[in-house]
Amino acid sequence: MSVIALVNQKGGCGKSTLACHLAWWLAQQGRSVAVIDSDGQQSASRWLSKMSPPIETHVISEGTRLLEEIPMIAKSFDCIVVDGGGMLSDITLNILLRSDLAIIPAQPTGLDLSSTHEALKLVQQVQSVRSGKPKVRLVLSRATKGTRLLQESRTLLEPKGLLRTVLYQRQAIADCFGQKAVVWTMPNDAGVREAREEFEAFCREVMEVLV
Ligand SMILES: Nc1ncnc2c1ncn2[C@@H]1O[C@H](COP(=O)(O)OP(=O)(O)OP(=O)(O)O)[C@@H](O)[C@H]1O
Ligand SMILES: [Mg+2]
Repeated sequence: MSVIALVNQKGGCGKSTLACHLAWWLAQQGRSVAVIDSDGQQSASRWLSKMSPPIETHVISEGTRLLEEIPMIAKSFDCIVVDGGGMLSDITLNILLRSDLAIIPAQPTGLDLSSTHEALKLVQQVQSVRSGKPKVRLVLSRATKGTRLLQESRTLLEPKGLLRTVLYQRQAIADCFGQKAVVWTMPNDAGVREAREEFEAFCREVMEVLV
């Protein structure tokens, strides 16, 4: 039983997109998986409720309920994916208190990188009271190939636990929610194939960290 949380107060950095794709991929790998959606917007639960086969989702957007219920739900599954909300509130704190791995998606822009540092600071505070738990990794998300910002972001974040995989900004990914799909269930085209490879590499890296 592993609890993997996607956190970062910066809106739009890709938390729900990564949470839904990771949950779908884990289910395809034969693991029992549920998603806990802590965001009032309920993006992940609305997304996954449209998918077939469905992935069990629990909407829990109160800090104390998350603290109590994450371990209870986790008992029945191999993996729990928690989609964090858009604020570094007690919600995020309580998620981190119950997670094995925190993933912080970051867009390679100056503003996003500063919110990434705030999220990382909160994780480190929790690590200091939980004997080093949860593990933490950063992932560059919605990046544009070949830009200086991407290169600078890599250099800045690599010492802090950056995953090798970069998730690029792709129309195919933006289209998924509206099409009740994840990249693996989207109709084939070149952009979709590249997106699939990137998401698969991301998911595999996440599982390597958990071992
Ligand atoms: N790699 C990508 N390429 C293109 N579009 C993307 C990508 N990742 C996410 N998006 C799009 O960006 C928007 C924001 O993504 P998402 O909802 O996953 O972010 P979030 O961090 O969960 O935001 P919030 O904090 O509001 O919950 C969505 O419309 C999503 O489809
Ligand atoms: Mg979201």
